[in-house]
Amino acid sequence: MENVKVAVLVGSLREGSLNRKLAKALERVAPENLAFSFVEIGDLPFYNSDLEDEAPAAWKDFRSSITACDAVLFVTPEYNRSLPASLKNALDVGSRPMGSSVWNGKPGAVVTGSPGAIGGFGANHHLRQSLVFLNVPAMAQPEAYIGGLGNLFDDSGNVTNENTKTFLETFMKAFAAWIDKHR
Ligand SMILES: Cc1cc2nc3c(=O)[nH]c(=O)nc-3n(C[C@H](O)[C@H](O)[C@H](O)COP(=O)(O)O)c2cc1C
Repeated sequence: MENVKVAVLVGSLREGSLNRKLAKALERVAPENLAFSFVEIGDLPFYNSDLEDEAPAAWKDFRSSITACDAVLFVTPEYNRSLPASLKNALDVGSRPMGSSVWNGKPGAVVTGSPGAIGGFGANHHLRQSLVFLNVPAMAQPEAYIGGLGNLFDDSGNVTNENTKTFLETFMKAFAAWIDKHR
């Protein structure tokens, strides 16, 4: 398989984010041909089309960063049974100006994580709804709803549950194959 650059968007902005740990764990088990590039979304001004004449530098940098990647991996918590506003804003910023969406045709995958048992199912599917409109072919299987995140990592961020570790590895192998097919 060819080398591919994967933009990784983490839907949590907090420093101790469990989902960021999860994203780093995914990077560690990913096939070697996938190069992760963490694209930060915390400083993006809220989308407002009035600003497009002189688009904020943070928007321009973000759009360029996504454009430079071959695929996109979303790793996010669930907020109130949906995706965090920061991540939705990033989708909106990347989708405009009309006709220049950076998402168009980019293969994607969605991983949601929560300390709770449901693993962010609601966020996962609300995000997928937008990805359909944005023409991001999002890998359907395997699905990844990672529950119990609060007990998943040791102090160095390693995944302590062998079954989960194997699942993450399987997920990333499938994503590599998905990218290969859809890029
Ligand atoms: C505003 C808010 C809403 C939340 N809503 C949900 C929810 O709907 N489902 C859920 O499983 N956890 C919910 N949580 C708990 C988060 O899953 C938990 O705080 C998690 O650690 C956040 O991810 P992070 O560690 O990557 O920041 C919510 C947390 C916040 C701050």
